[in-house]
Amino acid sequence: MRKTHIVGNWKMNQSTEEIKSFFNELANESLTSEAWIAPQALHLGLVKELATDKFKVGTQNSAYEDNGAFTGEISPKSIKDMGLHFTIIGHSERRSIFGETHEVLNKKAKKALDNDLTVIFCIGETLEEREAGKVEEVLSEQISKGLKDVASDKVILAYEPVWAIGTGVTASPEQAQDTHAFIRKFLAKETNLNADKTVILYGGSVKPSNVKELLACEDIDGGLVGGASLKAETYKGLFI
Ligand code: 13P
Repeated sequence: MRKTHIVGNWKMNQSTEEIKSFFNELANESLTSEAWIAPQALHLGLVKELATDKFKVGTQNSAYEDNGAFTGEISPKSIKDMGLHFTIIGHSERRSIFGETHEVLNKKAKKALDNDLTVIFCIGETLEEREAGKVEEVLSEQISKGLKDVASDKVILAYEPVWAIGTGVTASPEQAQDTHAFIRKFLAKETNLNADKTVILYGGSVKPSNVKELLACEDIDGGLVGGASLKAETYKGLFI
């Protein structure tokens, strides 16, 4: 059985006051699924302090080396040292805005796993690629190059169609399920990961009003959520 995971990716958002209110408001809530949060790097200490045992905390990025002259990067060794649990690798914003390539992402994923962190590895196609019928080709390349020579039970996949991120447009449950089923088959055939056990999250405009139908799909094991994870009220609404 794969556990349901609700992962909040706060991106470059939240003030210290907003973070305090978030955890205050959730203090007495029992969250039924795995409840994970990835704040900005600057807020990791605060979030770690405020997050009770019911949360796991991680980062939005992680470097491909443990230490050294990498100004602005986040060391996976330090992520582990801080007692954090996971890192997101290969988010479409890292790929498109910061130019992270398959090869860089592969090195980052491996180094994070070497440090015993769980890796949420993101993949997804653009609207142009979907309309050109290239979804499977794009995802296959992202997985086979990004997770090349990776064999670990600490890898989570996150399928985030780029056209659904922050747009309010969500993939329909059928579209998402079809793509997740393809990803799981691809993992079984072409990678060293255990496809049946690998958690595959859907991301892209997940919110309380659509989470139930998405999570009802056989191959969707949770959500990687941006906007709706920022406020306690909507974050709480993602747990069904
Ligand atoms: P939204 O939920 O705001 O669409 O963001 C999705 C995302 O990119 C999470 O990583």
